Amino acid sequence: MAGLSGLVEQQDVVADEAVKEYKIVARNIGQIFHIKRAGEGRREFTAVENMNLTVKKGEFVTIVGPSGCGKSTFLDILAGLSVPSSGEIFIDDRKVSGPALDRGIVLQGYALFPWRTVRQNIEYGLEIKKIKRHERRAISDRFINLVDLQGFEDSFPYELSGGMKQRVAIARALAYDPQVLLMDEPFAAVDAQTREILQDELLSIWEKTGKTIIFITHSIEEAVFLADRVAVMSANPGTIKSVVRVDLSRPRRMGNVRNSIDFSRITGAVWNLLHDHETAEKRQTRPAAVYSEAEKRNIDSAAL
Ligand SMILES: Nc1ncnc2c1ncn2[C@@H]1O[C@H](COP(=O)(O)OP(=O)(O)OP(=O)(O)O)[C@@H](O)[C@H]1O
Ligand SMILES: [Mg+2]
Repeated sequence: MAGLSGLVEQQDVVADEAVKEYKIVARNIGQIFHIKRAGEGRREFTAVENMNLTVKKGEFVTIVGPSGCGKSTFLDILAGLSVPSSGEIFIDDRKVSGPALDRGIVLQGYALFPWRTVRQNIEYGLEIKKIKRHERRAISDRFINLVDLQGFEDSFPYELSGGMKQRVAIARALAYDPQVLLMDEPFAAVDAQTREILQDELLSIWEKTGKTIIFITHSIEEAVFLADRVAVMSANPGTIKSVVRVDLSRPRRMGNVRNSIDFSRITGAVWNLLHDHETAEKRQTRPAAVYSEAEKRNIDSAAL
């Protein structure tokens, strides 16, 4: 990775006095699940361990990592939807203790209210914020247009395709104007063309509103195109291995960026970091003493 060393950085643990410099701080996050297998008692499974991430106000950070490495687990904790086994999350220097309207969430899967129409889903956060009916209507109209769902305002989720449901979820998260957006593979279920439109739209919303965004994706191209920094995770247990700074100029549009040499250089760097994981074969050559207890337990579980 010649010439890229300046772009790749490690995420250190943030000291107490530095927490206020960031919009979001994740410090030493760990999550242990208790799993039950037939004929056995409960086992501990360490999904993520020692996760550290800092995000500045208005920054766009994407997270990539192999399937099962703990990306969604981490996002749930950031959202306040689950409590970590260890570590803490701060948003605006305040410790997160549950979900709140300062965070808009688009989860993996659709998570719409099945008993609400498209419009009612999009207006949900606005109702909670006690925004008046005619204002709610104007806002939901705007976001229905943005995600191209005109004509489906009164449809229920079961009447929509997967991609349409995902667009409703995005509109719902954006509509109540949260400062922080947490997005878990939001464009995975939409077709390639819609995905590009939504990527461009998300960037232009972000440029206009200065939101702070954490966005999980399996696509290295998407991760680099959108982000100021890409956090690369490794598995077993999941943790942030390194963070790649994306020094492409803004504003970006996929049509212009895709073929640039700088874009290939950075996607290449992320690819290398992602594929530099330890294979079972390589593991045999490591001295026993360097395995953490959690790692031993996880490798044990996987081998059964
Ligand atoms: N509630 C749970 N109980 C037990 N294990 C869980 C639970 N939730 C997640 N896990 C395990 O934790 C690990 C991380 O899961 P997670 O969903 O966070 O992965 P991910 O990186 O989001 O994967 P993907 O890219 O496939 O969405 C997986 O091994 C998963 O099986
Ligand atoms: Mg996931």
